[in-house]
Amino acid sequence: MQVLVTGGAGFIGSVIVEELARAGHTPVVYDSLVKGHVSALQPDVPMVNGDMRDTDRLKAALRSYEIEAVIHMAGLIEVGLSVTNPDRFFENNVGGSMSVLRAILDTGVKKLVFSSTAAVYGDPVSLPITEDAPLQPTNPYGESKLMVERILGWAAPAHGLTCTALRYFNAAGATSRNGEMHDPETHLIPLVLKAAQDDQAVTIFGTDYPTNDGTAVRDYVHVMDLASAHLLALARVEAGLRIYNVGTGTGYSVQQVVETTERVTGKPLAIDKRPRRPGDQVATVASSDRIRAELGWKPRFGDLHSIIASAWDWFRDHPHGYAG
Ligand SMILES: NC(=O)c1ccc[n+]([C@@H]2O[C@H](COP(=O)([O-])OP(=O)(O)OC[C@H]3O[C@@H](n4cnc5c(N)ncnc54)[C@H](O)[C@@H]3O)[C@@H](O)[C@H]2O)c1
Repeated sequence: MQVLVTGGAGFIGSVIVEELARAGHTPVVYDSLVKGHVSALQPDVPMVNGDMRDTDRLKAALRSYEIEAVIHMAGLIEVGLSVTNPDRFFENNVGGSMSVLRAILDTGVKKLVFSSTAAVYGDPVSLPITEDAPLQPTNPYGESKLMVERILGWAAPAHGLTCTALRYFNAAGATSRNGEMHDPETHLIPLVLKAAQDDQAVTIFGTDYPTNDGTAVRDYVHVMDLASAHLLALARVEAGLRIYNVGTGTGYSVQQVVETTERVTGKPLAIDKRPRRPGDQVATVASSDRIRAELGWKPRFGDLHSIIASAWDWFRDHPHGYAG
């Protein structure tokens, strides 16, 4: 299948492009490089440098590469920035998604896979979180993703589109080629690995949560397992929007991430304990029953050690990230 990946120069998108090519699909990247990396791109994969809000450019790309499906991953992801600049977030994430929708409708593309997030749930009412749990985002980032889900929920049946929204939990890990290097980095695993690399202390926000060791719990999913969820979603044919959580169903605490990193890297880590940050959830863990039952998804790299080890290998091979 000819597949356009918006945001394909980013962390998760670049791995999806790798996996699409490996599975025999023909990926094309569409990215403005506002955050992505040129060196994450594979030389043999075409790249259109454009903003997703430029609908005409998108339509031209869809037509010239005879695209059959779009994996729509482009978006701004920094939660803190979404709180201070909600206008930018809605403009980019919702406005950009409207442009993608207009472009696929005008060019006859019938399949769309959308990157959503566990942030649509906000503070979970119970664990594990199922797709039917209350949707109460606590920041504009989560709200922007929920708005797009809702738009697709109306547009898909109206236009006979096969839409799949994947609510990722915490993406992590790496392939030998592509790893996690956001700017600024706000995600725990790359921050802990950077601390190990630079022999610096790890900052832990909140050590008095009602969890086994007092630190917050998250569901980390290997980026290659995330990629496989997208490939399975591409095989869907029914019209309408279907929503799936993508998480392993196992939660790990910040403390467990630090201890596993110490084992993987062989470096003891000093801890800088700080108070809880407003807006941080105590624990988020996915129920992945729906995606396992309906799409046959199964994580292959579900354990924390494998996830951190793959990220550490990438860190050591790329000590300056994508800069060299
Ligand atoms: N990383 C996670 O743990 C996580 C969790 C849940 C959901 N997601 C979602 O997955 C997607 C990818 O996340 P990521 O971690 O790879 O982020 P990333 O920042 O590495 O990648 C996002 C890509 O989108 C591109 N982009 C942003 N705005 C654009 C625009 N207007 N036009 C064209 N390109 C644009 C950026 O240049 C970048 O390459 C995002 O939509 C994010 O919300 C990520």
